[in-house]
Amino acid sequence: MKTSLTGIKPTHLPHLGNYLGAIRPALSLVDQYRTLYFIADYHAVTTVRDANALRGYIRDVAATWLACGLDPERTLLYRQSDVPEVFELTWVLSCLLATGQLERGHAYKDALARGESPNAGIFNYPALMAADILLYDTDVVPIGKDQKQHLELTRDIAMRLNHVYGEGTLVVPEALISDAPLVPGTDGEKMSKSKGNGIPLFESPRKLRKVIMGIKTTSESLEDPKTAEGSTVYALYSLVAPDRAPEMKQKLAAGGYGWGHAKEDLFQAIEAEVGPKREEYLSIRADEEQLDAILHSGADKARQIAHATIQRVRGAVGID
Ligand code: ADP
Ligand code: TRP
Repeated sequence: MKTSLTGIKPTHLPHLGNYLGAIRPALSLVDQYRTLYFIADYHAVTTVRDANALRGYIRDVAATWLACGLDPERTLLYRQSDVPEVFELTWVLSCLLATGQLERGHAYKDALARGESPNAGIFNYPALMAADILLYDTDVVPIGKDQKQHLELTRDIAMRLNHVYGEGTLVVPEALISDAPLVPGTDGEKMSKSKGNGIPLFESPRKLRKVIMGIKTTSESLEDPKTAEGSTVYALYSLVAPDRAPEMKQKLAAGGYGWGHAKEDLFQAIEAEVGPKREEYLSIRADEEQLDAILHSGADKARQIAHATIQRVRGAVGID
């Protein structure tokens, strides 16, 4: 069975876009692949400066994936930091990377373009991400389009290491670019934590309703016929309740059905999908000991794979 691995940065509470765009598609792979999903906590240190917030996000994210259906008996769920071998591999990979490759990194270049002075962690991020992947003999990496460049660099470096030190030392992985659609936020732009347009996944139903009622719409009167296309409420409804979307479209076109009604229907549809998962989330999140035990058990198994790879790499480079 081939291995699928992906990393999740614990930098915020997951939103509906993360669920539809990343969590659900990744969980659908468990029947086809041996799956390893990890919390990329050392990646989060490049930006998160609040230790307590980071502690919280790590568990929020882990509990979210479990509540959304990750079965720890079938998927290794672990924290990146529980497998320190990743840094050993990062170093070896860094020694094969040209600094120019890192200078062309999107995250680094974007930070420069925003006038920031990015830290060296952001600069070296692609090397750590390559190690995350190569340490586990990964065949496929489910990612969003924004991560494509990192995967190309990972492949490039794995091939270079194999070329220099011996074919077969590392498995060369492939990207599995998700065809999940981009989920719009409350302002119609791509839902993103940094834009403040997120629809929370597991906050209270009251908060969820409030956020949904705040989605931007046009200002026709209740009686006016309305166009579904181009509306954020309809776009979200189509993603959450595709079977019932044509019905909403018809109601909008007929008139007498206002945006308030459409938002209420959207709220009900989202609540139907996330309500039971929220219950599960709250109970998992409340039992930190049990949650940590799941993460440690995942790490123990992940570490065995990591150890074998590191031995191979050490032998190949002459440090054994
Ligand atoms: P954000 O953009 O809010 O900071 P992340 O970068 O943490 O979110 O995204 C984590 C994962 O969720 C990525 O795989 C990304 O492709 C997916 N994702 C994030 N926002 C969306 C969205 N609006 N629609 C679809 N997928 C998304
Ligand atoms: N860079 C990824 C992101 O920003 C997170 C990540 C870290 C990752 N290591 C990884 C994803 C390894 C896939 C494989 O979303």
